[in-house]
Amino acid sequence: AVKVYEHKDAASAYVADRIAKIIKNKQNIGQRAIVGLATGSTPKGVYKELIRLHKDEGLSFKNVVTFNLDEYYPILPVDDQSYVSFMKNNLFNHIDIDHQNVHIPDGTLSLEGIQAYCDLYEQKIVDFGGLDIQLLGIGRTGHIGFNEPGAMLESKTRLVTLNDITREDAKDDFGGKDKVPTQAITMGVQTITQAKEVILMALSQRKAEIIQKALQGDVTADIPATFLQRLNHVEYILDSEAASLLS
Ligand code: F6R
Repeated sequence: AVKVYEHKDAASAYVADRIAKIIKNKQNIGQRAIVGLATGSTPKGVYKELIRLHKDEGLSFKNVVTFNLDEYYPILPVDDQSYVSFMKNNLFNHIDIDHQNVHIPDGTLSLEGIQAYCDLYEQKIVDFGGLDIQLLGIGRTGHIGFNEPGAMLESKTRLVTLNDITREDAKDDFGGKDKVPTQAITMGVQTITQAKEVILMALSQRKAEIIQKALQGDVTADIPATFLQRLNHVEYILDSEAASLLS
């Protein structure tokens, strides 16, 4: 399903409401909600609205377990650009989540330890019963998580090399493209597609071209987001700018 909103705030409010409903439904039956999160500029409005729901409407995150899609490698959790810092600043420091329930790939591992760590990350998601919902943005390369062009449908959590365009897009955060890490740890395409619900958000004109290809182009590993076309539990939440090239 594709939903187009005139204003990005309305798109964010819709997504926050979807997540809040899952959390509350699980609360009512005494279960945990397993929520897959993304970073970047796109979901910031969603997190703002979730914080508002917590502060103004009493939404509790005590029963929420989160798994983030990805993290740069190498990076320290305390670095300003880490996704650990992003999540703390934009969400976790402002809600009542139990910090033991937060999972973000570790950017400090030694190279030899990474694959075992990634396998464990996958296993933890499975042990919690799988992701109830996974929130996604999309990169201009068509990446979801950091599954860049060439990523396989069957891919799982692993160390990957970032695409040049992706590093270019991150250069302002790092104060220069040469300072952007060349690698990242990311959930795989398979990890993402196994979530019970997937929401891909895209906002702004910058995303119009890739959204057209992702939704209406041929399914190809050259644009990993096209793998989502085959699923029937995906919602594309767009603002009118990001949707402007759809026919
Ligand atoms: C972030 C992530 C990426 C971003 C994508 C879009 O955790 O996995 O796929 O969603 O690069 O980034 P923004 O939203 O900054 O345009």
